[in-house]
This record gives sequence, structure tokens and C-alpha cells, in this order.
Amino acid sequence: MKNKLWEGRFSKPADPQVERFTASIGFDKRLYPYDIEGSMAHVQMLAKQEIIKQAECKQILKGLTQILKELDKGQFQFIHNDEDIHMAIERRLHEIIGAVAGKMHTARSRNDQVILDVRLFLRDITAQVIQHISVLQLALVDQAEKNKKVIAPGFTHMQHAQPIMLSHHFMAYFQMLERDYERFSQAYERINVLPLGAGAMAGTTFPIDRHYVAKLLSFPKVSENSMDTVSDRDFVLDFLSASAVLQMHLSRMAEELVYWSTMEFRFIKLPDEFCTGSSIMPQKKNPDVAELTRGKTGRIYGNLIAVLTTMKGLPLTYNSDMQEDKPPLFDTIDNILPCLAVVAGLIKGLTVREDIVKKSAKMGYITATNLANYLAERGIPFREAHFIVGSIVKHCEDKGIELEELDLAGYQAFSNKFEKNLYDVLTLDYSVKSIRSYGGASPDSVQKQIKTAREILKKR
Ligand code: ARG
Repeated sequence: MKNKLWEGRFSKPADPQVERFTASIGFDKRLYPYDIEGSMAHVQMLAKQEIIKQAECKQILKGLTQILKELDKGQFQFIHNDEDIHMAIERRLHEIIGAVAGKMHTARSRNDQVILDVRLFLRDITAQVIQHISVLQLALVDQAEKNKKVIAPGFTHMQHAQPIMLSHHFMAYFQMLERDYERFSQAYERINVLPLGAGAMAGTTFPIDRHYVAKLLSFPKVSENSMDTVSDRDFVLDFLSASAVLQMHLSRMAEELVYWSTMEFRFIKLPDEFCTGSSIMPQKKNPDVAELTRGKTGRIYGNLIAVLTTMKGLPLTYNSDMQEDKPPLFDTIDNILPCLAVVAGLIKGLTVREDIVKKSAKMGYITATNLANYLAERGIPFREAHFIVGSIVKHCEDKGIELEELDLAGYQAFSNKFEKNLYDVLTLDYSVKSIRSYGGASPDSVQKQIKTAREILKKR
């Protein structure tokens, strides 16, 4: 075999520096199972269409099977001028079966080959991400179920806002992840299109059967325009942007796990197996796993921006710039899957300190909204009711007492609409149970959410 496939056109070999600079083998070798799977389908189609002989197809398939084994076992010897995984495999095929190896690349270009590899690979990875999302969702539903009686403070601006069922908080994350699940499912559909047969960019003069290749590789669709096919990396961007949004969600969750486990909050205990100690302070139990999840968000956003920027000025069709899509893509994959797994571990293993959560729920005049609603229900315009209750809170704060500690006369000094039953609306129980709106933080609503979530997860 020749030193380089394109040697015929050149009078001098590539400068070693250029060889190193243009090589992608360092990162694209992980695509090898998909490269071989794709080549196998391609040569079977070539044989069916009588573009190559059946015997030649068999020889190639046998050689490829051996190469797959060598790569699986780590016995494959890469050499210095294996520019990328496609060329490394073809080079090895020549060594094993001789000149007939040269027929494998008939009616194909590395431009459509590389996209086929990435699409096959990303299809598998996306299925794994979807699976991991469901595992995390299940952990959230289980925590919601376990804590279905716990009333907690709900926050806005990180200040006590209104009492909620703690399960409602866990189920909020379930909903976020439900949208991630949708986004990755949609990305999967756009990944799942056969590019092979676009050739370098114009298609081919050989009588290939792209739909047959699609069938062999279980692609429900075949791409429609060869120029778009080889220059399109939208499916990579779909994956990277869905990952960026997912990671943002994981990071928000991680942030809450970090501060909920602080000495100041003490809402939860994180599982020991998902925390680390300090080399100097013996008492420390650090939430590193949550911190690192939060920290990895930067690179996952960065990977999306990297590929968006690489693509932004590219004329049709294939340009070498596109080779730069893989390191960011692989980096996101290698981080998003472990992040999903460890966050699921944290959620599964955490314990809620019910007493502390409940005590906190009582603080900060958290039931004041009920009091304003109480007046509004008795004919006072809500804005006015809001003002009256605001003044009551200020009064209580000045006196250093809670709302339930102000006596009836004290209340009536602010409004004659107040009666003895006002104290009923100040309890936490009343607060959550009286929420009637669909999707609210009441125990009934949460119970429904948990039930629906379990049905959704069961169907998957
Ligand atoms: N290593 C290349 C990539 O990742 C494969 C396609 C190369 N095609 C070419 N004509 N240089 O994009």
C-alpha cells in the first residue's frame, strides 16, 4: 500500500509537522466500532449492487472483523501516518487482505464516512443520556414520595416566600429533567439520518442503494441533499445545546445541595459515599461532587460555543475546520454522563432533616400572604390588604414577635375585618392545604404529580 492515499498527486511527502497538525487519530480512534460497522454495511451494499464481487465483499468483511477484534483487545498497532481512524483501518485492511482492500472505499468519501461514524456513535450516546435522565428522575420521585409529609419554606430571591410541600420542590426538578428528556429525544431523531452516499459532496456515479444501507444500519431516514449532508453539523449542535441546558439544570440542583447541606441551612445530610474529607480539618465533609458538577458547567457551555463558532463562517460544503467538532463533542459526552450518574447518587442517598426544615418553614412571616388573602376574601381590595398586612409584619418585626403572637385587638387596630378565625390561616398546614390551583404546592397536587411521574417513567 502507498504511504498516503493521495500520494499520486504530490511530489514531496508531507512535512512531519503537517502530518501531526492535520491528524485527528488522537481523538477519533474511539469511533472505530462505528467506522467498522459503517464500512461493513457499505461493502454489503456495493456487493448487492454488483459494484464489487460477492467474494471481494466477503474478504473485506472478514478483514474488518479481524480488525475489530484487534482494536477491541487493544492489539491494533497504530503507525505514525495513520491520520485518522478511517485511514488507519483501511491501511490495516490492506495489510491483511491485500489490494482488494482498496475496493472498500468505492463510492464513498471520508466526508460522508466521518459523519456516518459520528451519527452512529452519537445515537448510542444519546440513548444512554436519555436513560441516565430517567434514572435521576426516578431518584427525585422517590425522594418526593419519601418526604411527602414534609412542609418546607419556598423561596423567591432566596428569601422565605410561602410554605410548600418539600416534594413539590423535588418534583420541580423532575419537570426540568422531563424537558431535557424531550430535548434529547428530539436530538436523537435528527441524529438518526443516514448521511452515507453523499460522497465528497455531490453524490456518486456508482449505482449505490442508500436506502439499503439505511436499512442495514437502522436509520429511518436518508439525507436529502448531498451538499447539506457533508457540511451539516447541526446534529452535533443539537446534542451540545441539549447538554448545555441539562448541565445548567444539574448545576442548579448541585448548588441547592451545597447550601442545603451547610451548617447554616442543615436541611439535608449528603450521603458519605458521595462526599470527601479535608486533608487538614478532620471535621470536614465536603460536597465536592455537587461542586464539581456545578464547575463542569463552564466547559459544557464552552463546548457548545466552540462548535457554534467553528461552524459560523464555513462555506458549503466540507471544510477541514469541521474536524474540530470532535474534541468538544467528546468532552461534553465524557462529562455529562458522569454528572448525571453522580447527581442521581446524591439525590438517592440524601436524607432530609425534617425537624429543621419544618422549623425553618415557620420563620420569616411566611404565612403573611394567607393573611392578605384573608382580608381580600372579606372584601378589601388585594392591594390594600397587602399594605395592611405589610404594616402588621413591620409592627411584629419591631416588637420581635411572630404573627400568631399578636393578639386579636392588635390585629383589629389594623383592620376591623379581622376576627378570631384569622389564626387558622397562620398555620403551615392551612397554608399548603388551602392551595387549590392546578400545579400548586399542596399535598394533593404533589400526590398527583408523583403518580403521573411514575406512570411516565414506567412507560419508558
Ligand atoms: N478526520 C476528518 C474529520 O474529522 C475526516 C474527514 C476528512 N476529509 C477530508 N477530506 N480531509 O472531519
